[in-house]
Amino acid sequence: MNNVRPIELERITNRELALKFIDESVKELKEEIKDDKVLLALSGGVDSSVTAALLIKAIGKNLVCVHVNHGLLRKNESEGVLKVFKEELGATLVFVDASERFLNKLKGVSDPEQKRKIIGKEFIDVFSEEARKLDGIKFLAQGTIYPDILESKGIKAHHNVGGLPEDLNFKLIEPVKFLYKDEVRQVGLALGLKEEMVFRQPFPGPGLGVRCPGAITKERLELVRESDSILREEFKKCGLSSKVWQYFTIVPDYKSVGIKDNKRTFEYFVVIRAVNSIDATSASVEEIPYDILFKIRDRILNEVDGINRVLVDISPKPIATIEWE
Ligand code: XMP
Repeated sequence: MNNVRPIELERITNRELALKFIDESVKELKEEIKDDKVLLALSGGVDSSVTAALLIKAIGKNLVCVHVNHGLLRKNESEGVLKVFKEELGATLVFVDASERFLNKLKGVSDPEQKRKIIGKEFIDVFSEEARKLDGIKFLAQGTIYPDILESKGIKAHHNVGGLPEDLNFKLIEPVKFLYKDEVRQVGLALGLKEEMVFRQPFPGPGLGVRCPGAITKERLELVRESDSILREEFKKCGLSSKVWQYFTIVPDYKSVGIKDNKRTFEYFVVIRAVNSIDATSASVEEIPYDILFKIRDRILNEVDGINRVLVDISPKPIATIEWE
């Protein structure tokens, strides 16, 4: 398969070029797919969302989106995906809540790579099961983008829907595989997707699982989810959300002593991480003003039950990585 960006593909730097790309892609997709059905794993990330929107434009209801909630998504994330794609764009969408299944498989597993592998394998299993239930699907669409092709050998085991069982021999459709991230965003905007979705910060496939260092528990996952939601709310309020590349919270498997209502507590802590980067290969730390940090700290300490301490990670990549696992 040809995996080199064609020289005739002009860099998509504006709406006009994005519309031209969309027109050509829709035409090609219609020609290739005809009246067949296409399956797509829709995470809600920029790449899969733009791929879905492009395919909806080309083949409408014949695109079947499968959205799997692996229990490691952010607060209200699945609801958001359903709202945009099912209600607003009218997509054919299968929603699978596999939270319990993933958490059971991850129980007691603390090794980061092991956790990633379990999440990746379970994802393939759940997705394949859904695919088998659906009849007459010939194609599988993926939101592969050009950097995925260029950097397919990563340091960590990044998970994608690659590696489906052999009996599911779908023909692969990757309509944005020659586009860089900024081009995918231009195309998304031109397709009418909201800025909020198109400029979403990167979110790892294994989700909050890598922000819950050590063995994942429901309790700690909830602490990550709630503190992350507060951080995102506050960053949005002060305008940092459109400036900072990636920001999130981490809750390691470690407790420290605190005091509340004159009583000793022994609880988890939240780490705040906010970094800037161009392509994730290196990252610098965002200097969050102290008044904003204090506001976030106060909200986390007051609103997230089970947290008695808030820390800030000021480590650049390298020597740290962006995620903790
Ligand atoms: P690191 O932690 O390696 O992360 O500096 C670089 C970028 O990749 C994201 N990331 C992942 N994305 N699956 C993904 O799809 C993964 O397993 C994964 N691990 C890290 C991370 O959020 C950052 O943007």
